[in-house]
Amino acid sequence: MASMTATAQAHPNIALSKYWGKVASGGNRPAVPSLSVTLAGMATTTTVRFDASLAADRLMLDGILAAERETARVARLLDAVWPSGTRPPAEVMSHNDFPTAAGLASSASAFAALALAASEASGARLDAAALSDVARQISASAARSVFGGFVELPAGDPAASAQPLAARPVATAGHWDLRLVVAITSEQRKPIGSTAGMNHTASTSPLYPAWLQAAPDIHERVRQAVLSRDFSGLARAAEHSALCMHGTALAAEPAIAYWNGATVEVMRAVRRMRQDGLDALFTVDAGPHVKVFTTVEDRAEVARRVARVPGVLRTIHARPGPGARLLEPDECRGAER
Ligand code: PMV
Repeated sequence: MASMTATAQAHPNIALSKYWGKVASGGNRPAVPSLSVTLAGMATTTTVRFDASLAADRLMLDGILAAERETARVARLLDAVWPSGTRPPAEVMSHNDFPTAAGLASSASAFAALALAASEASGARLDAAALSDVARQISASAARSVFGGFVELPAGDPAASAQPLAARPVATAGHWDLRLVVAITSEQRKPIGSTAGMNHTASTSPLYPAWLQAAPDIHERVRQAVLSRDFSGLARAAEHSALCMHGTALAAEPAIAYWNGATVEVMRAVRRMRQDGLDALFTVDAGPHVKVFTTVEDRAEVARRVARVPGVLRTIHARPGPGARLLEPDECRGAER
C-alpha cells in the first residue's frame, strides 16, 4: 500500500461579516452568510497518517495526547473524507504556532488543515470546494480557511440539508493589504464556546429573528466595501455586523456577554481614531479580544493607540494570507513536535 501520510498547513480567519446561528435542519449550516479574511503569519500544521495496524484513532495536539471528545470530532472529519469502505485508524499530529487562547479561532485553521491532509493521505484528493464543505461540517468557520484572502460562506438553505455548502473566494490576499492588530484583553478561557453560544442565542434571544433578517444585507454591504476597497464603508458595515451579533447574544436569557471592560474601551478608542482621520475598524468574536483592522499607512499609529488602551495586555499583528496548502516532507518538522 502506498504511504498514507500527508501534512497540510492552514491559517486562522477573522470574520468581517459574522456567522452566528445555524439552520434548524442540521448539518452545521450557518443561518446567515459570512465573510472573512484569512491571516498570514499564524498557522496550524497537521499530519495525518492512516495505519491499519493502529488500535484506534490517536490525536496529538502540540505533542499532548488529546481528550476523547476532541479525538471524536477529528474522527468525524476523517470519516467524511474517507472515500469508501472501512476507514483504517489514523494518527493525527497537529501543531499551532500561535497560542490557542489568543482569541484567534484555532478550530478554523485546525479543521481546514486536517481536511486537506486527510484528503491527500486517504487518496480522496478532494477539490477545494469539497474540502471546504467537509471542514464546514465540523466547524463552519473552518470552511473559510481552506481559501486565502477574502472569503465568503453562504448561508445554508434550510430546505436542502443534504446539499454541499462550501465557502468561496471573494478576493485574493493581494486585493487589499489590510493590517490586523489583535488586542488581547484577557488570559481566561471564554465562558461559553461559539456553538453553545449561538444555539442558546437562537433558542432564547427575542432579537434572533431580527438578526436573521438583517444579516444578509449587512453581509452584502461588507462584500461590496471589500470589493471596492472602501475602508469607511467597511468600517460601518463590519462594526454593525459584530454589534448586531453581540446585541443578539446579549439579549439571550440568560445573557451571553463575551466582552470585558477593556473590550469596550478598545471599541471606543477605535471610534476616536476614525474621528481623528485614521483608518481603523473593530470586530469582536466569541471572546473578549478586539480585532482592529487598519491600512498599511495607519498601521503604526493604530497599533500604538490600541496597545496603550487600559486593559490591553498585549497585541498580535497579522495581515491577509494564503489558503490551506500541502507541505512537502522537508517542510513538515513543525507538525512533529
Ligand atoms: O465556526 P465556529 O464555531 O468557530 O463559529 C464562529 C463564530 C464567530 O467567530 C463568532 C463568527 C465567525 O463568522 O467567525
